[in-house]
Amino acid sequence: MCGIFGIITNQKLSLGKVALEGIKRLEYRGYDSCGIVVHYNSQLLVKKDAGKIDEIHKKLKLDDFPIDAKLALAHTRWATHGPPTKLNAHPHLDCNKKIAVIHNGILENFLELKAELKMKGHIFTSDTDTEVISHLIEDYMSSQLDFKEAVAKAIKRCEGAYGIAICHADCPDYFIVVRKESPIVIGIEKGKTSYCASDIPAFLPYTRSCYIMDDDEIAILKAGDVEFYELDDLSKPKDKELQNIEWSIDAAEKGGYDHFMLKEIHEEPVALRRTLKIPDEKIAELARVIWGAKHIYITAAGTSFYASLAGKFIITKFLSKYIEAIECSEFQIQLGDSLQEDSVIIAVSQSGETVDLIEAIRWAKDKLQKKIKIVSITNVVGSSLTRYSDHVIVTQAGPEIGVAATKTYCTQVLTLSLIALKIAGFRKILSDEDLKKYYQALFSTPNIIEEFIGRNSDLIKNVVDNLEKSHNFFFLARGISIATAKEGGLKLKEVACRFIEGYSAAHAKHGPISLVREGFPIIFIAPPDETYQRLVGNVMEFKARGGKIISVVVDDDEVITNLSDATIRIPQPGNKYYSIFSPITFIPALQLLSYYAALKHNLDPDQPLNLAKTVTVH
Ligand code: G6P
Repeated sequence: MCGIFGIITNQKLSLGKVALEGIKRLEYRGYDSCGIVVHYNSQLLVKKDAGKIDEIHKKLKLDDFPIDAKLALAHTRWATHGPPTKLNAHPHLDCNKKIAVIHNGILENFLELKAELKMKGHIFTSDTDTEVISHLIEDYMSSQLDFKEAVAKAIKRCEGAYGIAICHADCPDYFIVVRKESPIVIGIEKGKTSYCASDIPAFLPYTRSCYIMDDDEIAILKAGDVEFYELDDLSKPKDKELQNIEWSIDAAEKGGYDHFMLKEIHEEPVALRRTLKIPDEKIAELARVIWGAKHIYITAAGTSFYASLAGKFIITKFLSKYIEAIECSEFQIQLGDSLQEDSVIIAVSQSGETVDLIEAIRWAKDKLQKKIKIVSITNVVGSSLTRYSDHVIVTQAGPEIGVAATKTYCTQVLTLSLIALKIAGFRKILSDEDLKKYYQALFSTPNIIEEFIGRNSDLIKNVVDNLEKSHNFFFLARGISIATAKEGGLKLKEVACRFIEGYSAAHAKHGPISLVREGFPIIFIAPPDETYQRLVGNVMEFKARGGKIISVVVDDDEVITNLSDATIRIPQPGNKYYSIFSPITFIPALQLLSYYAALKHNLDPDQPLNLAKTVTVH
């Protein structure tokens, strides 16, 4: 969940500036403290503190290091072990201040290692698990191992998940990177500069040539060059494929918008259009696997889980087979021995790195080996999830920097919808005319969103103004829109810090309705599908108890509009072909509502309190 950046060069660069910009681009991974170490004249120069990067930069001038320095490591932290303080900020040094370590992940056995090192006289200055690594390397080096060997030996003793970069004051020409379960990518400007980072956007302004590290690999980064080894075999370097990344740097910059979240909502039509271009054979490949499965599970976390709920509904409609949706953190514990052979698990993840999801998939694979298939949908090429999967579709949202997922959600639901329609085609359950109409509706989703965003910002700001004093909200719906209600509510909770309950409108009678008083805001998600008539009844029940009704409806809606205090209208036809894809077309309204609500409450929508975009700890 932290962000790691490292650079080594033979060029004349302001390393402090490049490192600072590198962690700024990773700030979505954690933003409670940061630090930079620069190697200079056989010394390690460190600046670090608690707070957001910009605040620390103001205080410490993080870009101000000697101009002829050639090696720097930088870190932005999301606290796990120890509160966000200066002492707990990375980098962490050994006793002699010769070894500097930055780390993303968790060392599960750090207490045991720390006790052992303390017994040997090592002095610790932080509460972190990370500091153990620098002392452990120091310890091995004191018994005549060289830096590389000592790192390998130390890392082999570390249990848990990690992406780590390490430099040594006596080794000016290289630094070392190791990875297990926490993402690390290596960028190369051949012959000039090498980078390591937790995510590609960190070095995207300088190079698109990159290597994606595998688990238990160790990389030695020199200026413009890199060698990879197995942690267990340092004798010969491995061959690895250099990849060319197609993302443009514009996608990782704010480009005139005040926040990434707003920019990324505006990018939804483009992201959807690109995802619609995923080759038909790829969609057919996954559709065939899912169609042929005996049992189907879908699993994910956070927003991706709500995309999965929508996708489950759409696929089930055309597959006529039950799909069980389980949050990835509960997957193993809930399924246990009941996980069946000939199953397919659909795993959905923006980052492809969510540790609970990776663990669920690995558990299922270990248990049933070839008798289970993993089908994954992720936005990141080469992510951990792709390595454990039998079939992969990469959504084309481009880099998403805002911590609250927006455009990736739309592309996930779209991809699941494409698979669903492909299955409908295989099963021949629809007339050609009907199938064509569903495809037309799905292919119209980018235009609907474009039109909606273009005309609705002021209306949404008005709704937000009227809700300024409300702290608690219900987001209610029926059928497929329960996924939209949950995801829309999650956005408001994440970025505007309101308490929300996203719930079934019918089920809300069994408890939640007892909270409703005069003016209690209830957002109803109301596309004109088979649940609409009953939803009208639910709206009336809540209105009768004084609820303030805000509804999200299609353009020509009348009945719920007349019952509502405010309506947000989505420009799409009111028929079944479009309604089933409403999780895609209705969500921008709720994303924008949350965005403007965050601004109203003076909150930064890009960096919600306590959250990180990629959750690599359990
Ligand atoms: C975190 C992020 C969410 C994201 C979830 C799952 O909670 O803040 O935005 O939806 O992780 O992440 P994934 O990368 O697996 O989709």
